[in-house]
Amino acid sequence: MKDGLFQILDNPKTKAAQKVQHPNGKNIYIETYGCQMNLSDTEIVLSVLNTFGYQETDDINKSDVILLNTCSVRDNAEKRIRNRLVHLRSLKKKNPNLILGIIGCMAERLRDELKGVDLVVGPDEYRKLPHLIESVIETGEKGIAVKLSRVETYDDIVPLRKDGITAWLSVMRGCDKFCTYCVVPFTRGRERSRSYQSIIGEAEKLSEQGIKEITLLGQNVNSYKYENVGFPGLLKLIAEAVPDLRIRYTTSHPYDLSDELLEVMSQYDNICKYIHLPVQSGSDRILKLMNREYSIENYLKIIDKARKLMPDIGFSTDIIAGFPSETDEDHNLTIELMKKVRYDGAFMFAYSPRENTKAYKMEDTVPDEIKIKRLSEIIELQRLISLDRNRMLIGKTKTILCETFSKKSNDFLMGRTDCNRSVIIPKDKFKIGDLVNVKISKVNSATIFGDIIK
Ligand code: 5AD
Ligand code: SF4
Repeated sequence: MKDGLFQILDNPKTKAAQKVQHPNGKNIYIETYGCQMNLSDTEIVLSVLNTFGYQETDDINKSDVILLNTCSVRDNAEKRIRNRLVHLRSLKKKNPNLILGIIGCMAERLRDELKGVDLVVGPDEYRKLPHLIESVIETGEKGIAVKLSRVETYDDIVPLRKDGITAWLSVMRGCDKFCTYCVVPFTRGRERSRSYQSIIGEAEKLSEQGIKEITLLGQNVNSYKYENVGFPGLLKLIAEAVPDLRIRYTTSHPYDLSDELLEVMSQYDNICKYIHLPVQSGSDRILKLMNREYSIENYLKIIDKARKLMPDIGFSTDIIAGFPSETDEDHNLTIELMKKVRYDGAFMFAYSPRENTKAYKMEDTVPDEIKIKRLSEIIELQRLISLDRNRMLIGKTKTILCETFSKKSNDFLMGRTDCNRSVIIPKDKFKIGDLVNVKISKVNSATIFGDIIK
């Protein structure tokens, strides 16, 4: 990298001013796939490139560089990206100067197997992007950087966020859990945490800039550890530093979710009463094969404790149908668990074998049609539970933070309750960013409507 091109960031630690390079005339277009970590990483990538003069464009036809920030967690995510690449390569045929890059988990997993692209950059190598792009322009040779790091947290880089009132704030990267079905420890590497000082600095800055809600992000936020501060300590520090910000976090692993964390959540009004707590399966036998490190009994104890401390708390989960050797009996235990917990929402998936994982080598695979049948049953049950839970809200009053216009009409706003339920209200005199008291008037399984309390 050349002198003078280094970022002097608006680093919360140094309070230095962000110095952005003059536009270099090159437009960058990024598509992001997969989890929230990827959305947050895209903001880091944009910040790194912006400092070197690249401007983001929403118009793919005006782009000089196209990046796909990719996901490898299931095969269908990768298939979608491969299909997209077919189209993008055709753009490259029309414009041979166009640079096409794959970044993120698929870049890390497939490395030089990825053909017909100019750049392959893994999640820990984003600082190298400007240099790699320059080198592709100069030499025409493919740029590959896929080393995983034990220390990279992009702590000093201020993400280039889109306007809005909510923001992602990444607190840790990587995962050491090695669930046997999951490719993430291989694509994102070992766990490492950002310093709490810089996280707090960034939260304060976001609050000053008018952000109303932050979501602390990590593959497994509960294993956050920096010096002597764990995740409950971090949450407490942030809740006190930015009392006017709503705070959410994701994702939690049940094994690491402590009583202390629940207590901190219950003590601060600005910490949202909502936990995304992936269970994956209702069968202890399957959980063991998945290396999840908890039993259903322990999982239910967490839910009980949380509900005792915070009666209105919302829970969502992830469920995998058809893990190797899963029997009807195991599947029924998942159904039973869902009926017991009655989640507010769930992300439900058919098991997808991933190379290099331990589960990949497990025999006794569940046939596709059974996987799909079980998954459909799980999805239908969750739909009924969501509908029932939504119906129970009718007539209740809630405070929502208005986040966006409703998808269907600009005469309506969408806001979320503390416990993460989306509510549609008439716009009236309100605007995005307002906290509004509403009375829930009607619901279906996917949407909740509210009337404004005058
Ligand atoms: N197959 C299906 N679902 C998976 N997940 C992770 N790996 C796989 C896989 N191989 C799901 C888990 C995880 C979520 C992010 O994706 O439920 O919590
Ligand atoms: Fe994957 Fe398990 Fe880590 Fe989540 S906790 S990212 S499922 S290995």
